[in-house]
Formats: sequence, structure tokens, C-alpha cells
Amino acid sequence: MANGLYDRDEAAIGSLQKLRFFPLAISGGKGARLVEENGRDLIDLSGAWGAASLGYGHPAIVEAVSTAIANPAGASVLSASNVPAVALAERLLATFPGRGRHKVWFGHSGSDANEAAYRAIVKATGRTGVIAFVGAYHGCTVGSMAFSGHSVQAGAAKADGLILLPYPDPYRPYQNDPTGDAILTLLREKLAAVPTGSIGAAFIEPIQSDGGLIVPPDGFLRKFADICRAHGTLVVCDEVKVGLARSGRLHCFEHEGFVPDILVLGKGLGGGLPLSAVIAPADILDCASAFAMQTLHGNPVCAAAGLAVLETIDREGLAADAERKGKLLRDGLARLAERHPLIGDIRGRGLACGVELVLDRQSRAPARAETAKLTYRAYELGIVLYYVGMNGNVLEFTPPLTITETDIHAALDLLDRAFSEFSAVSDEDIAQFAGW
Ligand SMILES: Cc1ncc(COP(=O)(O)O)c(C=O)c1O
Repeated sequence: MANGLYDRDEAAIGSLQKLRFFPLAISGGKGARLVEENGRDLIDLSGAWGAASLGYGHPAIVEAVSTAIANPAGASVLSASNVPAVALAERLLATFPGRGRHKVWFGHSGSDANEAAYRAIVKATGRTGVIAFVGAYHGCTVGSMAFSGHSVQAGAAKADGLILLPYPDPYRPYQNDPTGDAILTLLREKLAAVPTGSIGAAFIEPIQSDGGLIVPPDGFLRKFADICRAHGTLVVCDEVKVGLARSGRLHCFEHEGFVPDILVLGKGLGGGLPLSAVIAPADILDCASAFAMQTLHGNPVCAAAGLAVLETIDREGLAADAERKGKLLRDGLARLAERHPLIGDIRGRGLACGVELVLDRQSRAPARAETAKLTYRAYELGIVLYYVGMNGNVLEFTPPLTITETDIHAALDLLDRAFSEFSAVSDEDIAQFAGW
């Protein structure tokens, strides 16, 4: 189904930054729909991996960006303050319930934000050790890969003193303990084995996203944070994918009854423009100057988009909407599971949903090739849906928060067909799409 644009892309753009599942070639978008060069439109159940939080062409973003670019307040925060960046920082701080004085750092991506948070913690505390989780994807810069536990970054150099813990996965529990307590015991053991005061940061995703859209058991994060804090370790919540209303609450940590020391936001914050943010105690973000900066950080056009995203989330009640639409989606997926035994597990919060595909429900053996074929067939039928997970067998649903119920129903009907028809996709069809 390749078309002219996809062929030109293959000829002109290198593979280093490609993660392709089918020959999608986009010329435009509206709402939760993407339009291909040939005019075909598709329902986007990925939302550009969650970045298109308001969908495509939302009037609030169009207006904010058009206004900001027509009269740009400079280009960054490095050497001057600018109106949209300051206003966005103030608005972000107003959403964060942490005690004490906080400030904001702006970046372009989840990767630079996680890296800046880590470097600032090391600089401010002198502690280089870091705790993170197997399966965690915190970014693709040298610094963020150093404490990521995803298989795609297995070859990257890791931080000295990195402690990687299993993520608490209720479907595939570590040591058969669905509470996650066995992991906390392991954490205590690991902390007892390192010099006191050596671990500065603990990075955790409140839903592990690229590792398989895994929702931790109730209470795990709170207990994890308590143990870390008892060791003077700062808890960094990476909400790059699942934050800002996607989970059904503005911040995903709100589900867990705890407040992290540091919050990292990205993807959906810019509504499709490059924008990330770290909210952290002022003494961490003020520990040095000219230390974690790139020329266009705090760009006023991107910050204006971020403000429009936050205002729209409030005005349109998108957090509550995500809760309701996510339930609709998961209920529909549960009905598909009655007919399609490939579906092993359905999970998520709000509009962050995962569907794990298995060869049989008893053994739970990952259905890797089937997952690749299913997403390919879904694409042929008119859906954009990608997969994640350390076994490449979890469908990830992170559609625009503005997706309509009509589109959710239409997508479920198409998915039903894809589950019935994916075996017609040949190994050859998917051979050129490496996925993860
Ligand atoms: C939880 C999480 N953190 C960080 C990142 C990295 O973000 P970016 O790709 O914008 O650098 C991702 C990307 O998938 C992510 O899911």
C-alpha cells in the first residue's frame, strides 16, 4: 500500500529515527483523523504516541500558535524572559501540589527533560546513583538512555550506580507477587548494599508506557516513594506519555495518593509541538546556571501551544472526558476479547490503554508476530495503532483526548475485523517494518 510520499521518505530520510509499523504517509489531519496523501483518512488511536493531545488542527492551538508566531517574543528563555514561557511556568506551578517552593525548566522532548532532571539532581545533591525500572523508556539522549531499562536501549551506556528494578506488572508478576511487595523488598536490599546517601534520584512512570502500558498495583507507588525518601532519594515521576489529563486526572500520580518530588511532562504538553517541562524544587532547578540549556528552550511559540493545551483541558473538561471515553474503549475491547482469544489482558487508566496479545491465555506466551500483523491489518482497514512492550505484544491506545465516541465505536468495529483477518497478512508484508 506504499504511496509516492512513503517512497520519497524512504529515499530521503534515514532510518535512525524511524519506528515504523506500516507505510503510513500523512499529508494532513483533523480531530482524531489523519489524512494520507491519497485522501484516505484513518482514525488515529496513537495520537502521535500521545503528543497530539488535542488532536489535529484544534482551533485553540491554531489560534495560540498563529498569534505567537506573528509577534514572536524572541525565541527562547536563555537570555531573556518571554510572556508565553513565564505564563506557562506559572500555570504549571499552579497545578502542582508539592510542598515548598518549586520552579519549572523547559525543554523540547521527554528525553531532554528527563536528562536535565537527572543531571540537576546529581549536581545539586552530589549523589550520582539512580533507581529506575526494567522496561522504562525515559528517552533517547545519552543521558536519558543511561537510566532507561527498555530493551531498545540495551546497548546504551548505563549510569554508574544504576539500580534497575522489575516493574510491578499484575499480569506477569515478579516472584508471583501481584502486590509488588516483592519488588519493594528487593529495593530495600539493593539500598542496603550501596553506600548511604549515594542514590540521588528514582525515576518511575506511574503507568509504564513503552514497557507495555502496565498499571502498577494499588499503593505500590506510595510505598516505593516512602522507601526512597527514607534514603533521601528524590522521586521523579515521568508522566511524559500519561500525564496532563490522559489518565483521567490532570496528573497521573493523583490516582496513587502520593506527590512526587519532581514531575516530568512532555508529548501532550505541546499538543504536537516540541515542548517538555520539569517541575522541581527551586533549589534543584537553581543549583547552577548555563547548565542544562539548548538555544530554543522556552520557545514562545511552543509555550503558547502549551498554554492552549492546559486551558483547553480545563475548559473542555478533558480529564473527566478521558476517564469516560477510556471506559467506553475498554468495555468495547472486553467485548472483542469474548470473540478473539488472542487478547490476553486489557488494562489502563483513562485514555491510556494497553491490550496484551498472547498465543494462549493459559501460558500467556507473547504473540509478537501476530501483534505486528494485527497492527498492519488495522492500518489497511483505516486505523493507526502501534504496539509497545518488552515482548512487542501490547497494543497501545493513546488517542487524542478529543476523540469522539463515534470514532471510538468506528475504531472498535474496524479492530474487530482486523482481529478476524490479520492472519491474511504475510511475513513478507511486515518484513520491512522492524517495529521495536
Ligand atoms: C514515559 C516516557 N518518557 C520519556 C519519553 C521520551 O520522550 P521524547 O521521545 O519526547 O524524547 C517517552 C517517549 O516515548 C516516554 O514514553
